[in-house]
Amino acid sequence: MKNPFIYGKIASGNSFIDREQEQQRLSANINSGINSILISPRRLGKSSLVFRVSQTLSRKQSEFRFCFIDLFNIRSEAEFYSVLAREVLRVAYPKWKERLEALGRFFRHISPRITISSAPAEEFSLSFDWNEIQRSPDEILNLPETVSKKLNVKIVVCVDEFQNIAFFDDPLAFQKKLRSNWQKHNLANYCLYGSKQHMMTELFESKSMPFYKFGDIIFLEKIPKKYWRAFIVSAFGRTGKIINHEAASNIALTVENHPYFVQQFAHTVWNLTNHKCSDELIANALEQLLLQNTILFQRETDSLTNSQVNFLRAICNNVSNLSSVETINRYKLGTSANVSRLKKSLVKKEIIEINGNKFEFTDPLFKIWFAREFLNI
Ligand SMILES: Nc1ncnc2c1ncn2[C@@H]1O[C@H](COP(=O)(O)OP(=O)(O)O)[C@@H](O)[C@H]1O
Ligand SMILES: [Mg+2]
Repeated sequence: MKNPFIYGKIASGNSFIDREQEQQRLSANINSGINSILISPRRLGKSSLVFRVSQTLSRKQSEFRFCFIDLFNIRSEAEFYSVLAREVLRVAYPKWKERLEALGRFFRHISPRITISSAPAEEFSLSFDWNEIQRSPDEILNLPETVSKKLNVKIVVCVDEFQNIAFFDDPLAFQKKLRSNWQKHNLANYCLYGSKQHMMTELFESKSMPFYKFGDIIFLEKIPKKYWRAFIVSAFGRTGKIINHEAASNIALTVENHPYFVQQFAHTVWNLTNHKCSDELIANALEQLLLQNTILFQRETDSLTNSQVNFLRAICNNVSNLSSVETINRYKLGTSANVSRLKKSLVKKEIIEINGNKFEFTDPLFKIWFAREFLNI
């Protein structure tokens, strides 16, 4: 029997749970032509959510064409243009012969170079002359709208790790170009998401930035325990194994309802379970996961300064006011200016993140490991 818990991939089908409100909100935005911005730390479920909505909407309304672009490994404006053009044409024209015709139709001032790999994958890539692009970037930036018009469809451009445009050569000028073209689009719709919370909020919430008020900002949170409990119990059940409600809750709680980690933990518990899950098996699964990560956690800790370690100790102890004189003295954090530097540096290292007005560990397993090492729990 195949393990019903998946992690590190898009959660789809019956391994996708909850997110009802977010699905509705995103669908409603797309239906009414409002752009969306989705923000959450890594591995909380942005890609899975957008994919889910794309499937539901494409099934119900055939005019939608979803195209997915990941800026994770795109570090220049030139690459962005090639990928945008390629993906828009790919979803709009499934046959490459049509794509070739479309290239002639849509590009007047820019002559793309095309590389087609051999069928059956029908993979293709486009590249442009940088000088030509600089003269008429609009031709590419408006492609989602012009193609939508031509085909009488609505192209939804989904851009993952959008904050990476901040690494392009002249990010502000590029954002202005993007914004001024995209905001005129009526048929094409944009869903922009990213994991670097501070960069995303800077891009979309700061008044001086070109993307200010570009769309509806949705912050994605963890998935509540009750959904995990029901999901874990039924996933065990349908694969011929048994787990009780309490044990299932326990799995979710141990990793603080964090989607990636609950799935990973449940995956490990399922593997260890022959027929009926027990508390002992759950404890063994946790040890296994911690062991797998020990080298990584040690390396992470080695890279921390003493004050950073002390600050994490305070977070582990659920200290509510991290900047109070008492906390600063008890945990030897230096000055209050130093405390804000500590927060910034640890957020930047992605060890902690802000959730509401609380600081939390990004990785609940690291928190457990850290507490054992440094708080003797
Ligand atoms: N709605 C969901 N239901 C169940 N598991 C989920 C859900 N969303 C995310 N996950 C779990 O979290 C992991 C990371 O999700 P992903 O969508 O890739 O997050 P992100 O794009 O925010 O990094 C998935 O592989 C899956 O294990
Ligand atoms: Mg993702």
